[in-house]
Amino acid sequence: MATRDEMDATYNYMDEIFRLSLGETADITCALYDGDYSKTLEQAQADKHRYVLDSIGFKPGSRLLDIGCGWGPVLRAARDRGGSGVGVTLSRKHAESCRRNGLEAHVMDWQDITVDTFGRFDGVVSIGAFEHFCTPEDYQAGRQDAIYDRFFRLCHDLVGDGGRLYLQTMIWGRNFPGVERVSLDSPKGSDEYILAVLGKFYPGSYLPHSMESLARTAEPYFDLVEFKDGRKDYIKTTEEWSVVWKMTPRKLLAALKLAPYFIRDPDFRYRLQTLRGGYMKECMKREIMSHRRLVFKSRVRSEVGVPAGVSTGEPQAAS
Ligand SMILES: C[S@@+](CC[C@H](N)C(=O)[O-])C[C@H]1O[C@@H](n2cnc3c(N)ncnc32)[C@H](O)[C@@H]1O
Repeated sequence: MATRDEMDATYNYMDEIFRLSLGETADITCALYDGDYSKTLEQAQADKHRYVLDSIGFKPGSRLLDIGCGWGPVLRAARDRGGSGVGVTLSRKHAESCRRNGLEAHVMDWQDITVDTFGRFDGVVSIGAFEHFCTPEDYQAGRQDAIYDRFFRLCHDLVGDGGRLYLQTMIWGRNFPGVERVSLDSPKGSDEYILAVLGKFYPGSYLPHSMESLARTAEPYFDLVEFKDGRKDYIKTTEEWSVVWKMTPRKLLAALKLAPYFIRDPDFRYRLQTLRGGYMKECMKREIMSHRRLVFKSRVRSEVGVPAGVSTGEPQAAS
């Protein structure tokens, strides 16, 4: 699991520039084009928010949990639909920004949530956060499935029978070379080199290997009822993000404030290299990575075998 320090390092420096570029509730994950690349980024993000809320059956008065809420785009969409949301994030700047905009967000690891923390929800959403839940070391130690199992079990506890989970995540693509080959000593521009630089941009992060393996891990708790391949949408979204780099006087001021990061953070140059070089887009183009939007429906409690010792906040159901 990526740590709070790693998530602060990943996201906090972006805070001012990203909000100036993408708005107060900056959405920094793949928008929904669904084959129509004439849409503006704004429209494609609004379409994603509608799709996400529809996927979990969100209605006026509903309440959702957003695991990895970022600057709160989905929390805002939930409010705009007449409902409410609770967001958790490991980035202090994300939570502060959400609260400034009247959204409920907490700096909290999802692993510390139980049904007693915020109560139950009508649906759970997690967009672009799952990538941070397993580290390369977790994967190498064989812990990946156990982490995902814990996540799906928690979501099941939180939504109850028949409740929905919307999960959007990058996954490894068919050309992923394997973690053991990833190295900064590889030739510049190679798949292995780009992934090594990305490892500095997103420390403590490792992707699921396939949608099928994820669905299998979820199976004790959820059925996968719908999915979309978002790889091409991701490429288009990253192209649109070039707006982030269009300088304005306010952004220039914000950029100047980043100078101390070069001294404090030895990996900061790799972060800028990733953004300047469009490395995420490159990974999607080369199919080193891919992307999925997944809609899960929880299985009825009596069908779920809840392992002994797990706190569900309720008497354990017979399996
Ligand atoms: C790429 S941002 C996604 C933000 C937002 N969902 C969006 O679509 O714009 C990833 C988010 O996941 C959060 N995150 C990562 N690991 C987490 C954890 N273990 N518990 C809670 N939040 C986590 C980060 O702090 C960050 O807010």
